[in-house]
Amino acid sequence: MDALAQTKQGIGIAHGKVILIGEHAVVYNMPAIALPFTAATVSVSIQPCTGESYIDSAYYTGPLASSEQLNHLHQMIQAVCTYLETSADGLYFTIDSSLPAERGVGSSAAVASATLRALCDYFDAELDEASFTHFVSISENMVHGQASGIDTEVIFQQSPIYFTKDQPPETLDLQLSGYLITADTGVTGSTKEAVADIQQLLIDYPTKTLEAIQQLGQLANQAKEVILSGNIKQLGQILSNSHLQLKQLTVSSPELDQLVFTALQAGALGAKLTGSGRGGCMIALAATEAEAQQIADALQQAGATQTWINSLGDSTDDNLY
Ligand code: PMV
Repeated sequence: MDALAQTKQGIGIAHGKVILIGEHAVVYNMPAIALPFTAATVSVSIQPCTGESYIDSAYYTGPLASSEQLNHLHQMIQAVCTYLETSADGLYFTIDSSLPAERGVGSSAAVASATLRALCDYFDAELDEASFTHFVSISENMVHGQASGIDTEVIFQQSPIYFTKDQPPETLDLQLSGYLITADTGVTGSTKEAVADIQQLLIDYPTKTLEAIQQLGQLANQAKEVILSGNIKQLGQILSNSHLQLKQLTVSSPELDQLVFTALQAGALGAKLTGSGRGGCMIALAATEAEAQQIADALQQAGATQTWINSLGDSTDDNLY
């Protein structure tokens, strides 16, 4: 790195997301609800360096342009630099993340968002919402195959959202007396593969697949209503029903089913996979913090590699959505 030019720096931070309901169906214009996942953070810093741009991360360290794994990020950075009429060389990116990657909690969108915020900070640029989501979607479309944009939007809004593709999101005021447990199976899932497989299912079994997608959309609308009326018990049932529809779409896995079963046995009001599935994370609802802790303990005993508990209620706690 060029020691002389080290005063200039850019920093960007982003959190991940949890899809409460409606994943996959959201790709087909059904509504979905997503929450920021504030328990984990991605931070990206940029410092000047000589020569071509370089990236330092847990998954890849080396010249930015040579990384196949991070090509989606490279493409986004190129596009941003072209837009800002500046060179995409001479940037040293350092990515620090406590968000598990490829686990359905929005790591790719969070890394792209934090990188974009760091670029804006570094070049003293401001982007409006449309430009922000446009640039992040360059990366997300490469990662997801056919991204709905929900991950980018909730990370941008930093608030719970009710989202339908290509429509402005509605922010939701979550005032539920309850807790959300998120648990990681420890198995990586591929969003691109899962999204492509559902596309194929629609060709092979159109009626059944479309029915499951529409059911998921209806469940998301019901979830919105019960959130607004504050009925956490009904929300739990709706989440469990949506897990069954996601199973129909072949995006669950034995590990996810096992954790969903364990959570329900341990007293959860409802449980489902979250994100693209086939591994990754699941979520469960609990009425009290003590019950949430019991469920989290049971999930860890059943093999979850990590669990997080977030309040959905009206306390002033940091983990509040
Ligand atoms: O990449 P994930 O696991 O956070 O899932 C994203 C949500 C999907 O609905 C599966 C895809 C999309 O673009 O909406």
